[in-house]
Amino acid sequence: MMAQNLPSVLITEPIPEAVVDFLSSHANITVGEKGRYSKEENLIEDIAGYDALLCMLSTPVTEQVLKTGRKLRIVANFAVGYNNIDVKAAHELNIKVANTPDVLTEACGDFAMALLLAVTRRFNEAEQYLRDGKFEGWEPLGFLGMELRKKTLGIIGMGRIGQAFANRARAFGMNISYHNRTRIDQKTEQELQATYIPNLEELFENSDVLSLNCPLTPETYHLVNKKTFDLMPNHSILINISRGPVVDEAALAEALNKGKIAGAGIDVFEREPVVHPDLLSAPNCTLLPHIASATYETREAIGLLAAEAILSVLSNKQDDQIPNLITA
Ligand code: DGY
Repeated sequence: MMAQNLPSVLITEPIPEAVVDFLSSHANITVGEKGRYSKEENLIEDIAGYDALLCMLSTPVTEQVLKTGRKLRIVANFAVGYNNIDVKAAHELNIKVANTPDVLTEACGDFAMALLLAVTRRFNEAEQYLRDGKFEGWEPLGFLGMELRKKTLGIIGMGRIGQAFANRARAFGMNISYHNRTRIDQKTEQELQATYIPNLEELFENSDVLSLNCPLTPETYHLVNKKTFDLMPNHSILINISRGPVVDEAALAEALNKGKIAGAGIDVFEREPVVHPDLLSAPNCTLLPHIASATYETREAIGLLAAEAILSVLSNKQDDQIPNLITA
């Protein structure tokens, strides 16, 4: 039953129970059906009565949605990346926006490492071979892959997740190079033994593994494209756990098919949930359905952090007491 005096919160997808329970004691909660609010028109149809929106990275929070949400005070994204939200429009309408950094860093670092190992050691191909009944005994030349020790991991986007990946890769004996909008502090650079490469082309040319850990912005859209695949060594591997549109997916499929690069580990896609058909049939690539942060612990922590931001706004806390507000 709806309590009259409580604010209303729309959660656009089913999320961990603990988060819904936590919010329920402070607000009237509606949880959307899976997929319903990935469509802008459905959000526009339903948003008007809500004071807060807890949305997913797949929820298009456009200017039109925000304008229709006349009562909205905060949009909290169940993700660190918030390219799905028109932040400028939200701020113009006096609606706060929050994201959920930190709590997913380690899960994403683990995942990037796992994906890299899966690609370089050809887990998918080898497992399929076994399941197809082709395994006839140990083979000296069966499924040879690239060793990580002494190879160079080039990271584009050396924020929290980039650093978590670098840290793990160091334990595997990799050398770390990186490019970032601004150079990271010297102490962290030294701890990670990471080399800053100001010139992106140089990073493409000299990385055995190139990892994308940057946000999606107008500057990073199709940052990896036909031209950059030409720069990459033929034996190199691309790892993308950031956002799909950072890579030109058609160019990636072509690079894999033509052997311009040796493999790819891809968790994010240009038009999720659609995957470019040429990528689906391309060799040596591990394709996963955007699950880098998918652990029980992390998904609950993400939800609780977003819920905390919502409750802070709804209880009129000052901005500096609201966790992870996006200010720019
Ligand atoms: C994020 O939080 O931006 C991630 O993509 C979730 O996996």
